[in-house]
Amino acid sequence: MLWVTGIMSGMSSACLPSSSSPSSPPESLRPQALALLLMRNADDKAAAVRALPPVSALSLEETQAVLAEPPGVPGRPERPELRPPSDMKSRAVGSPEGRAGLLHALAHIESNAIDLALDVMWRFDGMPEAFYLDWLQVAREEALHFQLLHAHLAELGYAYGDFPAHNGLWEMAEKTRGDVIARMALVPRTLEARGLDASPAVRNKLISVGDRRGGEIIDIILRDEIGHVLIGNRWYRHLCKARGLDPISTYAALADLFGAPRLKGPFNFEARRAAGFDETELALLG
Ligand SMILES: [Fe+2]
Ligand SMILES: [Fe+2]
Repeated sequence: MLWVTGIMSGMSSACLPSSSSPSSPPESLRPQALALLLMRNADDKAAAVRALPPVSALSLEETQAVLAEPPGVPGRPERPELRPPSDMKSRAVGSPEGRAGLLHALAHIESNAIDLALDVMWRFDGMPEAFYLDWLQVAREEALHFQLLHAHLAELGYAYGDFPAHNGLWEMAEKTRGDVIARMALVPRTLEARGLDASPAVRNKLISVGDRRGGEIIDIILRDEIGHVLIGNRWYRHLCKARGLDPISTYAALADLFGAPRLKGPFNFEARRAAGFDETELALLG
């Protein structure tokens, strides 16, 4: 585990915020994203992402660079224990343990979402600067979502890691590691878009057991996630245009090729519309 120690000790100057003075050179964004991705403690990772310097203090000069992948991507805590999705129990939220289980599952999604945003930033070279800045914003917001949920979970007497979790989100990141267009199609435009669909029911569940704070957190997450799917749509369309591909048939081919989950209703059409899906795409959902 020496490399972990090396990475973590290197982080104090390379990644953690920011001792930049007006005279310090700008810090390079993509190598920083990779170093943050390797961090193993979920709380520390979220705090470090939120404390990244402002855009004006970051350098995007290296957008063309191909960065080598070190071992240990993504950095993960020892807990939660990861199990197949079929092993996940769904608990009734009426009991404190059941509600904590739901909040834990959501916190795990957000922890994965931090990793997914950081991974996009370091892994895919040759994109316009605005692409990296969009994903930086996504990473910062995912880190906030994780912190909000983790703090709320703590109020129930639980911590991240107390329940098992599944690895479905990162599995799609693995499958689409070789092509940014597949990543845009199947992570933000598919998995994060499913989150838009699921939000109203989750919010209602929490409100129905008197968890108003939980409902407020879901409202914040839904607002931000619309922006994340919009960013996915923007760059998916950009890549389709650059490669002369039709967005509709290309999506169907990629979903097939990479075994994307079949989309099932009910769909949050309002949120999907706000997130940039066009009427043809919405009609195809059925
Ligand atoms: Fe999120
Ligand atoms: Fe997101």
